[in-house]
Amino acid sequence: MATIKAGRNKTIDTPLSEGQVYLERCITLTEKQSDLCTVMDKTILGNMLEVCAMLPTKSVDLIIADPPYNLTKSFNGTTFFKRKDADYEEYTRQWLSTVKPLLKDNGSIYVCCDWETSLIIGKVLSEFFCVRNRITWQREKGRGAKANWKNGMEDIWFATNSNDYAFNLDAVKIRKKVIAPYRVDGKPKDWTETESGNYRDTCPSNFWDDITIPFWSMAENTAHPTQKSEKLIAKIMLASSSETDVIFDPFLGSGTTSVVAKKLKRHYIGVEVEAQYCVWAEQRLEMAESNSEIQGYVNGVFWERNSLSEQNAIMSENLGKKSKTESKRKLKKQTLMIDTDNYSKTLLDFGEI
Ligand SMILES: C[S@@+](CC[C@H](N)C(=O)[O-])C[C@H]1O[C@@H](n2cnc3c(N)ncnc32)[C@H](O)[C@@H]1O
Repeated sequence: MATIKAGRNKTIDTPLSEGQVYLERCITLTEKQSDLCTVMDKTILGNMLEVCAMLPTKSVDLIIADPPYNLTKSFNGTTFFKRKDADYEEYTRQWLSTVKPLLKDNGSIYVCCDWETSLIIGKVLSEFFCVRNRITWQREKGRGAKANWKNGMEDIWFATNSNDYAFNLDAVKIRKKVIAPYRVDGKPKDWTETESGNYRDTCPSNFWDDITIPFWSMAENTAHPTQKSEKLIAKIMLASSSETDVIFDPFLGSGTTSVVAKKLKRHYIGVEVEAQYCVWAEQRLEMAESNSEIQGYVNGVFWERNSLSEQNAIMSENLGKKSKTESKRKLKKQTLMIDTDNYSKTLLDFGEI
């Protein structure tokens, strides 16, 4: 019997049988490409090991990779089985060696992993790239363990091809409320005074605690078992690429990287082996045409947690010149989005999600 979704459940779960229109937008490759014309802004259905070998070398600016972690997990019925460390290391070496030639000399790569897989990925990554950092993301959700600490974090490795690479610090600063404002000659030092409060745009650290995983109440959510949130991918992309750059994701899943690239005016190429996930990716790409919002990234600013009232106040000020009706509409929408998150998280805390 088909499951009936709750009214606020926005999960995209279009079955393959009903998603042919989306599947037809995907491409498959059978021969080596001399340039990116055929693959630009496309979802490629196929095995990344085979597809990467057909793509032109030094053609992409940024790679965002979220490979299967070393866990037994089913991806639409295809099970990735937990393997011995040495075998997972070899698997990592194999896929990294196929993506490495695609990256431009000044390009960057980010690789997602859990703490256990991280021990292997960090090591193998350094064989191919200059490792720059290990970001730890506090992901909120995690199943309780009876004889261990609950797993509530993931790692994201950041590496580059060379010492010549882009890092757009200003694009990813976090707006924080200033608690003890410091002045020099009576003027704010490194912070901004506004009617609704005092703020400083601070340098982001390698500990990210302002991002949740997607929940069923969020428009971006799909039925993919390990979907990353758009906000997380947006941070990576804004820091390490510019508009019109080409972003490549060899393990596209539900399409998050391509969707965020589209919303942030980058070009994208994504590879996914499961047709079902390609359908969801294309469905989301279609949705991005009419809605380029990224939840948690408001008006070009990443805000710290629990800052909704400050966000609203600033938005009111900024929108003051525009019509009051429009301002109220936006605030209401934003409030609804964030409240929905809190509601979901509350349920999660009680183990209901
Ligand atoms: C961890 S998930 C990526 C999730 C993605 N970041 C998202 O936000 O939806 C890994 C994905 O890689 C796909 N995959 C695994 N092996 C693959 C391969 N050899 N070629 C292409 N895709 C593969 C799986 O089907 C799965 O969807």
